[in-house]
Order: sequence, then C-alpha cells, then structure tokens
Amino acid sequence: MNAALNEQVGNEFGASLQYVAIAAYFSGEGLTELANHFYKQASEERDHAMRFVKYIVDAGGHLLIPAIAAPKDVFKSVADAVKLSLNWEQTVTKQINELVDLATRENDHITANFLDWFVNEQLEELTSMDNLLKVVKLAGDNLLYIEEYVARHGIAKGDAGGAARAAVD
Ligand SMILES: [Fe+2]
Ligand SMILES: [Fe+2]
Repeated sequence: MNAALNEQVGNEFGASLQYVAIAAYFSGEGLTELANHFYKQASEERDHAMRFVKYIVDAGGHLLIPAIAAPKDVFKSVADAVKLSLNWEQTVTKQINELVDLATRENDHITANFLDWFVNEQLEELTSMDNLLKVVKLAGDNLLYIEEYVARHGIAKGDAGGAARAAVD
C-alpha cells in the first residue's frame, strides 16, 4: 500500500506539472482566463500530492517520491489541451479506483477511508473538465467566448449544467 501511495504522490505532482505547462500554453495564446484557471488547477493537484504525503507520514510509512516525467509542452489547439486534461483526469480516476481496490483487498480500512475524499474529488474534477471541453467545442473558433465563459462562470466543480446555462445567457 505504501508503494502504491508513493506512486500516486508522483501522479498528482505529474498532474500539477502538466497543468502548469497547459496554463503557460494558454498564456502564450493570450488566453488569460484559461491560463489562470489551469494555474489554479495546478496548485490543486499539488495540494492533492501533499494530502498523500501527509497521509503516508501520519500512517508511519516511508515517503519515496518517484521520478516525474516531463509534461507535454506542445498543443495543437485549445481543444487538444483540454482533451489531454480530461484524459488525465480519467486516468487519475482509474488510479484512485485501483488504490481503493488495493486497500479493500488488504482490509486496510483506514486507507480506504482516506481515499474516499479523492473518490468524491475525482467526480468533481471529471465533471468540471468535461464541462470545459463542452464549452470549448461550443465556442469553436471563437476563443474569446471561452475566455468570457471562464471569467463569468468559472468552471464550477460539479456544475454539469454550466455550459448549457452559458449558452442561453
Ligand atoms: Fe488530483
Ligand atoms: Fe485532478
């Protein structure tokens, strides 16, 4: 369990780095609101990594932060970058599920209970990223629409109706 949790520390820091790279890409394209949104996501992912770190330490485990692969730095389009983020969140959801499976197999209820927060968090993260991808698709070539959407509505977590409401506003 300790080794699997260490892996996840790397995965969460990896997500953080990927979102920094995406934020920098958006910033370079003049998409300030999207850039800020992704810088915020990057810092949330760092917080996730730190939650795992604290838990490993509190549980008397050994923290070993694995090597973290360089994030992707070239994106074909805004949609490409957001799609990559959604794929990333889907992968993390799978990783969290596997951690819960492992904790359950090992009758490690304390770890399973700790992981509950992440199970809920992944639902929100998937919804919010899926929502953003919908907005990006609705916007087509009108990137300023996405900027305005993010500025006015944020990409509210758990707000699957956000895109629909933005479209009728
Ligand atoms: Fe995360
Ligand atoms: Fe995430």
